[in-house]
Amino acid sequence: MSTATDYETLIRDHYRHQAEKHGHSKRSTMEDDVIRAKETEAIEEFVRLLEAERTDGTPLRILDLGCGNGHTLSHLSRKFPGHAYLGGEFTDELLDIARSQPSEHCEFVACDARDMGFDDNSLDAVFTQRCLINILDEEDQLRSIREIARVLKPGGHYLMIECFNDGLENNNKARTECGLEALAPAHHNRYFDMDVLLEAIDGLLRVADPRRIQPGYDGPLCDTNFLSSHYFVARVLHPLVTQGQWIRNTEFVKFFAGVMPPVGNYSPIQLHLFTKV
Ligand SMILES: C[S@@+](CC[C@H](N)C(=O)[O-])C[C@H]1O[C@@H](n2cnc3c(N)ncnc32)[C@H](O)[C@@H]1O
Repeated sequence: MSTATDYETLIRDHYRHQAEKHGHSKRSTMEDDVIRAKETEAIEEFVRLLEAERTDGTPLRILDLGCGNGHTLSHLSRKFPGHAYLGGEFTDELLDIARSQPSEHCEFVACDARDMGFDDNSLDAVFTQRCLINILDEEDQLRSIREIARVLKPGGHYLMIECFNDGLENNNKARTECGLEALAPAHHNRYFDMDVLLEAIDGLLRVADPRRIQPGYDGPLCDTNFLSSHYFVARVLHPLVTQGQWIRNTEFVKFFAGVMPPVGNYSPIQLHLFTKV
């Protein structure tokens, strides 16, 4: 494995800046409040699913891989106490912030998704929130997915909240229809292609029905994803109103986030649920 790749420096620099700018804030690494809220809601549903499936009442071991400043994990440990929460983080400055908050049931450790220090079959669940897209090499990304499969117990679940090219392409199609320019991923992100991912996990992880944890969605379209409507409003409708300007956290966007169920596949950030074979 290449350990000192160029992209590591780029990623560490980017997140050092996030640590300096945002400290403990929930806006660290995610300045869009609707996305943060909907991701948190989905991860809460994930923990509810894990608790419902647990048959023996023992504490769950849950890993937040690429946990940033520990915001999500600390929230979970307060909302669903009694489990063992692990936060794995690559950027020292974010890890320091995560460790500096009082979270009795959380343990934060230095961790590289490509080569994790956890034992085989040792975790009940893993989730990632826009972490693996920071691995800017396809083979390294797929190695990380295989690592997740390795550390999960058989039957354990992986909640993947990461960015995918198809959602970005659909959103850009809608934007260009409306005379808006197409958008590209940020320089520190590499989006996934679902067909490449499915090939890589074959025999390791199987796709589980995401509707089990997509809050507010009970429609028949499996390719509907939880942030689709929000991205359509924030990246297509609202820029039309503002004549191209992209402003975060407006009342316009928050209004629609409150009333619209997810429709279609217009979001690069997607939620996918996998179970270890
Ligand atoms: C977009 S941030 C999300 C942080 C956190 N999940 C959140 O929602 O606030 C991505 C995180 O993944 C971490 N990361 C990047 N590459 C990583 C790697 N190879 N292994 C583990 N974490 C990594 C970054 O340092 C950063 O904290």
